[in-house]
Amino acid sequence: MTNAAAHHDPWRMGFHIMPPTGWLNDPNGLCQLGGTYHVFFQYSPDWPAPHAPRGWGHFVSDDLTHWRAVGRDFAIAPDTPDEASGAYSGCAVPVEGGARLYYTGNVKEPGDFDYITAGRRATQILVEATADPTAPGGLALGEKDVLLRNADYPDFCTCHVRDPKVWHEDGAWWMILGARDLDDHGLALVLRSEDGVAWANAGTVRATEPLGYMWECPDRIELGGREWLSVCPQGMQDRPWANGIRDQAGYLPLPAGEKLGHAGELYLDPAGFCRWDCGFDFYAPQTFVDESGRTVLLAWMGLPDAGFESAPDGLGWCHCLTVPREVTAGADGALLQRPVSELEALRGARHELAGDGTLALAEHRADVLLPNVTGPVELALDGALRVACADGLVRLEFLDERVGAGRTVRKAACDGVSSLRILVDSSAVEVYVNDGRVVLSTRWFPRSPALTLEARGASPCLVWEMGDGMKGCYELV
Ligand code: FRU
Repeated sequence: MTNAAAHHDPWRMGFHIMPPTGWLNDPNGLCQLGGTYHVFFQYSPDWPAPHAPRGWGHFVSDDLTHWRAVGRDFAIAPDTPDEASGAYSGCAVPVEGGARLYYTGNVKEPGDFDYITAGRRATQILVEATADPTAPGGLALGEKDVLLRNADYPDFCTCHVRDPKVWHEDGAWWMILGARDLDDHGLALVLRSEDGVAWANAGTVRATEPLGYMWECPDRIELGGREWLSVCPQGMQDRPWANGIRDQAGYLPLPAGEKLGHAGELYLDPAGFCRWDCGFDFYAPQTFVDESGRTVLLAWMGLPDAGFESAPDGLGWCHCLTVPREVTAGADGALLQRPVSELEALRGARHELAGDGTLALAEHRADVLLPNVTGPVELALDGALRVACADGLVRLEFLDERVGAGRTVRKAACDGVSSLRILVDSSAVEVYVNDGRVVLSTRWFPRSPALTLEARGASPCLVWEMGDGMKGCYELV
């Protein structure tokens, strides 16, 4: 399939960000500036060419629902010697007149190295983004300024140090970096700065018991005066709940009164590690606080080492992001995720199913809500993917191997299911249980032209057809 045709295939998304062409992974540089939302992401437009370089792509939106791709080229290309093997993940910090973008330059030296203790360079790079209506996506990107090199990190670090998350608090700038130490334990480095440019090591965040050998994509979440560390530990495949998947994404609460912006050592109890998403396809979430003060999360709907397909049948593009999810804190310290309310603007014709019923829609886009679940309930999509809640378990199960492309079944414990919401997009499904207390996300690759929904035990089940928020989005802005 040519790249030009890629966006006309039946699996093209209607309200999930997917790459204009080629490959997408982590969301990067999330921010809202002067009303406009910016989503950068890890991007390889030349994928599936071997060794396709990875840099940043860029989407913009006024409402988190209708997106425009800022061209098909890199927004940040890996075009300097300090990022020769990739302009890797990073964040945005809004400042007067624009934003600062911080990211990792990755370099793998040619040679016979383990690339853990030798052969890899990780620099932290700053790019100033200045609001400019004439620039692509309304942001003019400045020079690349290398702020930190391997020699600047503490001696106990391997070469794996990346994915800066930066924030400004009480007159100081803080950065956390994901790292792997020489004992193969994951941790976050904490750095402090007066100006966001010159940085000094200030501390660490570790788990009291090992939690993986490397922590990727650390993030800070602050809600109502409490903080959480979001983190992606690698090396988790043997945990009983891990489904054999190496890389996991979750969050850890900080004890009351503790802060990620701190000097010294902070230890967190890994028993508090809570997965963001119990489905098949979720990794590298990043949050930002928008101009209305909401904490909004987007994640890569994919995994680095999953063992199932995300581009079956030679699909010319790979992966997508989750919808933007508003994050709030429950009274018990759990973080709830709900699709941002703006998505409801895409709702069209409304249907209602009660008890047991079947519905066929012309397009594979729907917002399905069971606001009042009181007993066991089951919903089958195209007879191929079943969502079932019973006996304190939510199951997401593929009944048709081709539609699952290697995915089988995922389960999440959930006492007392009271509500269920399912967003169905062309090749993505997100299941929100109990108002976002438990979420399960998966890609799926339906084979039928129409979407069939079969409900059992629904009381009632409301279904909205969903519009196409991505129409025209790949035309250049
Ligand atoms: C996570 C990750 C990051 C890295 C990026 C490279 O998926 O491995 O740690 O910065 O992807 O694309």
